[in-house]
Amino acid sequence: MNPLAPAWLTEPDDANDLAPLVWPDSIKRTKKGELSVGGMKASKIVEAFGTPIMVLDEQHVRERAERTRRAFEAAAARHDGSARVYYAGKAFLTTEIARWMIQAGLNVDVCSRGELETALAAGVPADRIGFHGNNKSVSELERAIDVGLGTIVVDSPIEIERISAIAERLGTSQRVLVRVRSGVHADTHDFLATAHEDQKFGFSLEEAESAVARIRELPSVEFVGLHCHIGSQIFGVSGFRESASRVLELHERLLEGGPVPLMNLGGGFGIAYTRVDTPAEIEDLADGIVDAVANECAARGIEMPALAFEPGRSIIGSAGITLYEVGTTKPVTVETDDGSADRLYVAVDGGMSDNVRPALYGAQYSARIASRASDAAPALARVVGMHCESGDIVVDNEYLPGDIVPGDLVAVASTGAYSAAMASNYNHVPRPAVIAVRDGEARVILRGETINDLLARDTGITEGLDR
Ligand code: LLP
Repeated sequence: MNPLAPAWLTEPDDANDLAPLVWPDSIKRTKKGELSVGGMKASKIVEAFGTPIMVLDEQHVRERAERTRRAFEAAAARHDGSARVYYAGKAFLTTEIARWMIQAGLNVDVCSRGELETALAAGVPADRIGFHGNNKSVSELERAIDVGLGTIVVDSPIEIERISAIAERLGTSQRVLVRVRSGVHADTHDFLATAHEDQKFGFSLEEAESAVARIRELPSVEFVGLHCHIGSQIFGVSGFRESASRVLELHERLLEGGPVPLMNLGGGFGIAYTRVDTPAEIEDLADGIVDAVANECAARGIEMPALAFEPGRSIIGSAGITLYEVGTTKPVTVETDDGSADRLYVAVDGGMSDNVRPALYGAQYSARIASRASDAAPALARVVGMHCESGDIVVDNEYLPGDIVPGDLVAVASTGAYSAAMASNYNHVPRPAVIAVRDGEARVILRGETINDLLARDTGITEGLDR
């Protein structure tokens, strides 16, 4: 054991192994030791598309989407109820992914004009789109109402009036959910928890009651139910249960003033980024949450509303890997309590611009050499990027074969959610392409940026330096 390793990371017997749950379903090592995903060898992918490159296992995404829908539908059907699943596009959305979701029987949840237009361009029927956001602009709301969006999740009293005015002007009526903070602080990173009191989203349970009363006065806005999302990357069911029970208390009170046909309990189901993460199976989560809602409804003597869920990460996260090329390696000696130890810095050709999660949340990841297997003894490594910041970490702690050298390809696991979606051009680095692989074939679903794309925004270049 390297004393610099965190307690959770044990030295593997084989630093080529692929921890279950962490990697895409189709990942394998070929006879020669190279990684392949979707039937495509890492070297072939890189030959065709370069590095860094984000690779999505298409079958994995499609299967997770279907499985999630089936899990919630089955859980609700056991209580004679219904459930529908929205894919949270913020995790990562392109037109192709939106179509995979529709084909798998899911709906799509969007939270900006860009996501909305992507879903519409993909041909997602407007009534299968839900729209979120704490500060949707008037023009975003106009577009959403104009195309006949299924539901808009209302986040503030001001927004109720805006939606009403727009719907009235357009001569239509808009279905809305009211987002509430249930007061449950999910057991996750502070930035990822969204239902505790002191943050920007939604209404408190008390405020929501008057918000609903106001909506019910308005002829162009139709109240269909409450919405609560407690946070993201959550492993157990207890937070969801507690939250559902608090929301149902309000739901029951609201029934006195009219129908409340729906309840949306958000997403947030966690995935394994490292071998020590233990996410629940989606079927167990679905059963646990839906059973809790059904029991609570029975205890209150009310009918179970139609349920909706909106997971993003748990559908696409583990389906993605990012391939990088190693540029330099450097052992760094660090003093410890009883001497010193080495950490091997492995620098790759991407970093916080293609995955900001380690820098932003201290997120941990797993990595392996993708281009070959190696018998070398494992070395405690830190995979870092090429940006001008010491916090530019790709994988903070991982044992990699100690003979890793420049030119090796490194694969980082579980980058399907919130990596490409949150990518930036920091340091004027172009954002990498995203490809989908399946049955030995690869195709670009989001093209990579070029230096010319970056320069094209600079008016000094496009309009002349002497302007
Ligand atoms: N519904 C609402 C209202 C949300 O705000 C979110 C995520 C989701 C659904 C989907 O959550 P998921 O199932 O993907 O956990 N950038 C962070 C995650 C932020 C999530 C924001 N909202 C990260 O990289 O971990």
